[in-house]
Amino acid sequence: MQVLGIETSCDETAVAVYDSDRGLLSHCLHSQIALHQAYGGVVPELASRDHIRRLLPLVRQALGEAGADRQSIDAVAYTAGPGLIGALLVGAGFAASLSYAWGKPALGIHHLEGHLLAPLLEARPPAFPFLALLVSGGHTQLVDVAGLGRYRILGETLDDAAGEAFDKTAKLLGLPYPGGAALAERAEVGRDGVFVFPRPMQGRPGLDFSFSGLKTAALVALRGRVLDDAIRADVARGFQDAVVDALAEKCRRALDMTGHRRLVIAGGVGANRRLRERLATVAADASAELYFPRTEFCTDNGAMIALAGCMRLQAGLPSGGAMQARAHWELENG
Ligand code: KG4
Ligand code: ZN
Repeated sequence: MQVLGIETSCDETAVAVYDSDRGLLSHCLHSQIALHQAYGGVVPELASRDHIRRLLPLVRQALGEAGADRQSIDAVAYTAGPGLIGALLVGAGFAASLSYAWGKPALGIHHLEGHLLAPLLEARPPAFPFLALLVSGGHTQLVDVAGLGRYRILGETLDDAAGEAFDKTAKLLGLPYPGGAALAERAEVGRDGVFVFPRPMQGRPGLDFSFSGLKTAALVALRGRVLDDAIRADVARGFQDAVVDALAEKCRRALDMTGHRRLVIAGGVGANRRLRERLATVAADASAELYFPRTEFCTDNGAMIALAGCMRLQAGLPSGGAMQARAHWELENG
């Protein structure tokens, strides 16, 4: 079975072809970062318009690299939500058109399901069930994954997502958008303990997170100081340590509470090296295995959407059909 996957929920246009027997055959991506950089964040209307420009060439490229065509493709999977509504509508409309022209079904996929399944693209995939830490620009959740389409949220952020906190703090440090990866790079050379920020929600029971106070703590720490590279690095280090501590502590508790022996990291912040190192220790202490996708499949991509579509098709699970676009969409009720 062969599925074309289309991702347009935010600022990446991405297309991939996944084959149930041969695995991932191609994946192509255009990042809009340069387009939005001058504005310090994603401009929804510009994002939608750029998706329109990029989709057709990317589909041609992905089909060509996969050696696939309208005959070999069994279904067109696309991200149906959550995300920017205009951007989602471009992908949904494009997928509906292909589906109609090719006479193949269109499958509307939940973006976060895509992220959760992304580690299954790797050579050593996790088996179900597993505990997943989903950390992206829009979401921070601990998810009990019992199987395909069987997700239970154990904890989530009460305010900012972890990636959002990275990006906002990076902006305070004068780093270009999206600053998450740039902040992480500075943190590598920052000194331990020069800035110590609060560990939000650490003392409280449960598995929820809160990150908005951290950004404020960074703002207060910077007040009256001249921003140079050394300060940037030290603040980045202090901030990253606090986020990683908060995420690691809740993962430790969740492994303890659920008894899961597999921990998966997914989403853009999953690319963070320090987070991966810390979670490797947390997993080892709980006699659990740690799994994560390669960096390019942590951030938004088409491969995870093609894979999710293929798995749903094979399992005979419902997938929304054509022309679905939902800006807000609970994962549990997907
Ligand atoms: O999953 P993703 O590509 O998009 C969403 O669905 O939100 O995640 C993007 C987020 C951004 O906030 C970005 O700054 C963050 O992931 N990010 C990182 C790193 N690389 C990307 N955050 C911390 N460390 C990194 N190395
Ligand atoms: Zn995402």
